[in-house]
Amino acid sequence: MAPVRSTGAIVAAVSVSMALLSLFLYKSKLSSKKTKLTLASKKNHTNGLVGAIGNTPLIRINSLSDATGCEILGKCEFLNPGGSVKDRVAVKIIEEALESGDLAPGGVVTEGSAGSTAISLATVAPAYGCKCHVVIPDDAAVEKSQILEALGATVERVRPVSITHRDHFVNIARRRATEANELAMKHRKDEQMNGQALGQTNGFQCDGEKQSVVSSYKGGYFADQFENMANFRAHYEGTGPEIWEQTGGNVDAFVAAAGTGGTLAGVSRFLQEKKSNVKCFLIDPPGSGLYNKVTRGVMYTREEAEGRRLKNPFDTITE
Ligand SMILES: Cc1ncc(COP(=O)(O)O)c(C=O)c1O
Repeated sequence: MAPVRSTGAIVAAVSVSMALLSLFLYKSKLSSKKTKLTLASKKNHTNGLVGAIGNTPLIRINSLSDATGCEILGKCEFLNPGGSVKDRVAVKIIEEALESGDLAPGGVVTEGSAGSTAISLATVAPAYGCKCHVVIPDDAAVEKSQILEALGATVERVRPVSITHRDHFVNIARRRATEANELAMKHRKDEQMNGQALGQTNGFQCDGEKQSVVSSYKGGYFADQFENMANFRAHYEGTGPEIWEQTGGNVDAFVAAAGTGGTLAGVSRFLQEKKSNVKCFLIDPPGSGLYNKVTRGVMYTREEAEGRRLKNPFDTITE
């Protein structure tokens, strides 16, 4: 994008690496006792973990602003408790599901994600009395599983296969929610028939294969960040209005990278409804699936094909 001198600001969504994120989580855990004492003595405390999500600062990026003559501000989403913008999405997905009754209190939220969304769901679910079950490909770094387990989630590592395969990690996550719902229904029926509560079991039989994963009797809910419109709404109702307020409406452009596109879509829609000439840009480098989608019409990269990244020799198409 060519630099344009302007009166308003350009806001960029800023993310942070997993390494930094895990360090942040680790530190906050170690110092939780101290933090409690400090918070108790302050007037302006937040309401639990969920209250600490959002309202992230906008920081002027001096180097870029000075070099371009534009006011370039970064929205510090890495300051959310789970370390990314996905905390907002996790909250919205869970709150909407609880409200609609698709997720019962105490139920398990499932997701197929080896990234920030899984971390955020694992971070946030306990605040709503829910569990979190994450399915990831087994060529993902083991540290990802360790972070999720440290946050209280259960993690299932599965062989990487095509998204069109029923055992792709996202499809398994969807199935686990269905299985949890079937288990909950069966449990309710058994209870009604026996007139008494059944004992707790640790495993769950599904599709003829033993999967000791979803043992909740409260049912499950597939978070489904790519298809769930709560993702968009988290940004349309949260991140967008925040940016508008923080800049006093004095914003010319918004720039973000994209995974699901929820941030870009939600923030852009909100800002452009407020001010139709706000320019919104998706930035993604060559080598990303989206770059190929835009330039060649196919969402595919050799580098990102499941199984090519590390040890498993499966090849696949993403779309
Ligand atoms: C830290 C971080 N920020 C942003 C994104 C992408 O956001 P969105 O899914 O809203 O495009 C991701 C994942 O894709 C992420 O890990």
